[in-house]
Amino acid sequence: MHVLRNDPAFIPELDFVMEQDGRLIGQNMFMKTVINADDGRDIPVLTMGPIGILPELKRQGYGKKLLDFSLKKAAELGFGAVLFEGNIQFYSHCGFDYARKFGIRYHDLPEGSDDSFFLCRELIPGYLSGVTGVYQTPGGYYVDDADVESFDRQFPPKEKLKLPGQLFD
Ligand SMILES: CC(C)(COP(=O)(O)OP(=O)(O)OC[C@H]1O[C@@H](n2cnc3c(N)ncnc32)[C@H](O)[C@@H]1OP(=O)(O)O)[C@@H](O)C(=O)NCCC(=O)NCCS
Repeated sequence: MHVLRNDPAFIPELDFVMEQDGRLIGQNMFMKTVINADDGRDIPVLTMGPIGILPELKRQGYGKKLLDFSLKKAAELGFGAVLFEGNIQFYSHCGFDYARKFGIRYHDLPEGSDDSFFLCRELIPGYLSGVTGVYQTPGGYYVDDADVESFDRQFPPKEKLKLPGQLFD
């Protein structure tokens, strides 16, 4: 997240934390990116995440509340659509659908591969009408594993766990 926040594609106006009684319980953030449309245009869109809710407070509606709020703010700033990788079981509650239904393909994914992780929501109705093309993940998300390890070494070691409600490993 500190890398994303220093990236030119980062949108400071869409960097949210959720607090309860002064305690940080959730966060979400957005980055600018593009769809390389098949007709040669670059269509500006948003991508999102990481989004997270404190593990012990999951499945109590906070994630949906934070996401609905974030998307409302993104729409107020005039952005047209949000695309990203996620689990439809949660994000469908906030208006997301499979990006393939909008005619948008995920970069570098071999044809015929499962693309059900790739989701989209228009913020301006019809924004993607007449658009087909390939979505690009912004460069800021491609962090070097060695950089992550050296950053993490600044903090007390943590055990890698698989927690209930976790959508990905
Ligand atoms: C994903 C996450 C942000 C969802 O936040 P949350 O506060 O737990 O979700 P909500 O309580 O608002 O869920 C709303 C609805 O979404 C669905 N949902 C949420 N998490 C789900 C899960 N893990 N599996 C299936 N459905 C889920 C449910 O239908 C839920 O309603 P219900 O609890 O009444 O059945 C949170 O679980 C989290 O921080 N996960 C770990 C980090 C992560 O995976 N981030 C996403 C990366 S793409």
